[in-house]
Amino acid sequence: RGAPPTVVVIFGASGDLTARKLVPAIFNLGVDNLLPGEFHLIGFGRKPIADEDFRVMMDEAIAEHSRRPLNKEIWERVRQNMSYHSGGYDEAAAFDSLAEKINQIEKDLGRDMQRMFYVSTPPSVFEPIIENLGSSGMAQAHVHTKLASKVVIEKPFGRDLESARELNKVINGVFEEPQVYRIDHYLGKETVQDLLVQRFSNSIFEPLWNREYIDCVQITVAESLGVGSRGGYYDTSGALRDMIQNHTMQLVALTAMEPPVSLDPESIRDEKVKVIKAIQPLKLDVDGGDVVRARYTNGLVKGEPVKGYAEEQGIPEDSSTETYAAMRLAINNWRWQGVPFYIRSGKRMARRASEIAIQFKRPPGILFSEGDKFNVAANTMVISIQPDEGVTIVMNSKIPGLETRTQPVKMHFRYSTTFGSNTPEAYERLILDAMVGDSTLFIRGDETEASWKLVTPVLEDWEQCGVHGLKEYTAGSWGPLESERLLWERGHQWRRSG
Ligand code: BG6
Repeated sequence: RGAPPTVVVIFGASGDLTARKLVPAIFNLGVDNLLPGEFHLIGFGRKPIADEDFRVMMDEAIAEHSRRPLNKEIWERVRQNMSYHSGGYDEAAAFDSLAEKINQIEKDLGRDMQRMFYVSTPPSVFEPIIENLGSSGMAQAHVHTKLASKVVIEKPFGRDLESARELNKVINGVFEEPQVYRIDHYLGKETVQDLLVQRFSNSIFEPLWNREYIDCVQITVAESLGVGSRGGYYDTSGALRDMIQNHTMQLVALTAMEPPVSLDPESIRDEKVKVIKAIQPLKLDVDGGDVVRARYTNGLVKGEPVKGYAEEQGIPEDSSTETYAAMRLAINNWRWQGVPFYIRSGKRMARRASEIAIQFKRPPGILFSEGDKFNVAANTMVISIQPDEGVTIVMNSKIPGLETRTQPVKMHFRYSTTFGSNTPEAYERLILDAMVGDSTLFIRGDETEASWKLVTPVLEDWEQCGVHGLKEYTAGSWGPLESERLLWERGHQWRRSG
């Protein structure tokens, strides 16, 4: 999987993501010998920073955030081809001089290079960056060759359906869709990639993966962290935009999609779009619909007292932003008709736990049903995305003894036990895939639009209602009581994670 000679330009290079994730990922790719022989990194940002100061900032980033210890020789090789370019995102001259810089690198090397533009900035400057990449000619560089320029973009891809369409129009006015790599870092997680392998390389699960055998699916993406210092940003977003529309919806798509005809990126993405489009519009009713939103009040997380959302730094007094959202989805296709998909995501929940639980139908209660001798649970397959990555199957077993009594037991597969714990970070995989041109783990334009189409009416409704209908949950709990209603109404209840 060799990547061609590449120049990576990171827009937003003095930001948090560059130091925490992107440059450490690049260093780790270097350690694994997966960087191209000719590799240059240019940081682009508004702040003027001297090249050497930028390198020192990145030295610190590696020391603090790399999953591997510093390998001086490899880091030096990356570091020596690293530079910084300062300029405004809407300043055409800054892009012209960037183009000159890249041309000079190519000239010195005596060969063309692939240009990968990584947009890791606030969304307000996405459009000027894309447009300037177009007008400076950089977007079109080597476009009909294997070295065609590409653009990698971090979320948010719009705030609602209309702005997502608008953004896609701007992007596709400058880059062709195969040049575009929209990142959802959940797709870079090992366990998320393994979902397709679990489903389609085992003959024991797929025959059961449908409405005949599955009672419901529960997807939880819970965080114990609060909004921290990101309050100002978070309050303009909320759980639905920040986690559900993207990460959680990707988990739904991978769990529910039909088998793709092949592993090529378009076949997989076609199936994902198809299933997202099959999700029925959500019923909106403050006290009885398919969605619940809430925000945390002060409480205890892992024994430590924490503030409520309204008291966090940067949250306006009249905020009606949700830090938790839950939904009941109905997928109207042959496979899933009548099987509810319950999804939830929240901050300041009891603990960090992301999982997909497939709950199978109960066996006919003829033999082991009556009395307290028989504790029979629904068989459940739990795919634990993080932490403690693995798969657990819950089944029923006889308790050893002279009497016949039953109890649910768990069969575990743990990544760390089987494979060790030093797996690549999501960003290593995603940066490598973008460099080699494999778009499987990136979001296609129509995919984001399909998902925005589903959640936009919910956002509009919430905006109209303001705080009316916004529930509360105690920090450190599993969310508001009202979210239990979504399941009770269909005879289910949320699994207690873990
Ligand atoms: C980001 C959200 O996309 O994902 C954050 O903006 C969230 O609010 C983060 O904390 C969660 O990612 P992970 O990989 O820690 O589950």
